[in-house]
Amino acid sequence: MFPQTLVIVLLTVSYCNGNYERKRLLRHNLSEHYNPELLPVLDSNNSNPPLQVHVKLYLMALQGLEDKSQLLRASYFWYFTWKDEIFRWDHYFEYKNISRLTVKASDVWVPELYIVNDVRDMRISTGDNKEYVIVKSNGNMTWFPAKELQTSCAVDVSKYPFDTQTCKIRMEAWYHDNTSFVLNRFGSGIETSEVHFVENGEWEILNLSAYPFQYRDYASAYSCIHYTLILKRRSSYHLITTAFPFVVLMALNLLVSVIPTECGEKLGFCMSQFLTMIVFLTLIAQNMPSSSFTISYLTFLISLQILR
Ligand SMILES: *[C@@H]1O[C@H](CO)[C@@H](O)[C@H](O)[C@H]1NC(C)=O
Ligand SMILES: *[C@@H]1O[C@H](CO)[C@@H](O)[C@H](O)[C@H]1NC(C)=O
Ligand SMILES: *[C@@H]1O[C@H](CO)[C@@H](O)[C@H](O)[C@H]1NC(C)=O
Ligand SMILES: *[C@@H]1O[C@H](CO)[C@@H](O)[C@H](O)[C@H]1NC(C)=O
Ligand SMILES: *[C@@H]1O[C@H](CO)[C@@H](O)[C@H](O)[C@H]1NC(C)=O
Repeated sequence: MFPQTLVIVLLTVSYCNGNYERKRLLRHNLSEHYNPELLPVLDSNNSNPPLQVHVKLYLMALQGLEDKSQLLRASYFWYFTWKDEIFRWDHYFEYKNISRLTVKASDVWVPELYIVNDVRDMRISTGDNKEYVIVKSNGNMTWFPAKELQTSCAVDVSKYPFDTQTCKIRMEAWYHDNTSFVLNRFGSGIETSEVHFVENGEWEILNLSAYPFQYRDYASAYSCIHYTLILKRRSSYHLITTAFPFVVLMALNLLVSVIPTECGEKLGFCMSQFLTMIVFLTLIAQNMPSSSFTISYLTFLISLQILR
């Protein structure tokens, strides 16, 4: 009885240990035959179709759309998947039961992509050697880089505070043309993350869409995806703090013509109306982008009121 138990215990120990050892050997062997700079296709020549990379962008939080600096700040993560023809192994016979590995993103080929309208760091990969890629034995790669983007967005405030803004995120291949790899939408291409999404107090998301295409340079064509976010300002706060006082001020302004000229108070009333309007205009101007491309109709109305 006793020796049998011992054998089982020994087998279990050596199996666990063996599993680690086999993983280590597999990992070593995979890197031995791999160069992360090369496109991971076995027989790459110009007649071969390009590598198909599928992408979906998940919106995690909308930090804000800053009218003044014309920046959209939000955090995202991408879901990338593609087929690597080199980084794969036989999990039925040679590396039994090792069906998946998690490896450093710097050790395998990952698509090099840039967010060309990001104002800080255009690369998607942070390159800090702390990102991972999940590899299945058939070479199916999944990569989830996460990042906060600050993308420039031309804010049109002419309808403030009832405005809707359209912002674009432009993701483009930079060094590899479309004979190397091509980006495709995965599903709808963009959506809010079900688990991580946090609503923004000022902006409501009306629509998210993704549009993949190839843009032609003078020499070659590059694959890219442009994302469009349509945001609507939640106007209730602005109604109370801006629109309501404005209506009251306008009504008071009308009263000026009712006051008889003989009454000495008319000039004083006009002066205080004028000052109130100036203060009000300054308050609104604080929320407005300092550009003259688009000026809010509201600013116009208030300026006109001052002229009266
Ligand atoms: C390493 O990989 C090669 C080619 O895939 C294979 O022939 C060899 O048996 C592997 N070696 C080990 C120790 O797994
Ligand atoms: C390119 O690859 C295809 C398919 O593997 C093959 O038939 C063809 O001969 C290759 N062409 C060249 C120039 O190597
Ligand atoms: C990789 O696996 C995932 C999940 O099983 C699947 O959705 C995806 O289409 C696969 N990707 C490729 C390139 O085969
Ligand atoms: C690359 O893009 C150009 C321009 O849109 C297109 O004509 C060509 O077919 C594309 N090549 C591949 C391999 O998709
Ligand atoms: C979002 O916009 C796209 C492109 O304009 C459109 O095809 C899609 O139906 C819209 N989705 C919703 C939910 O409105």
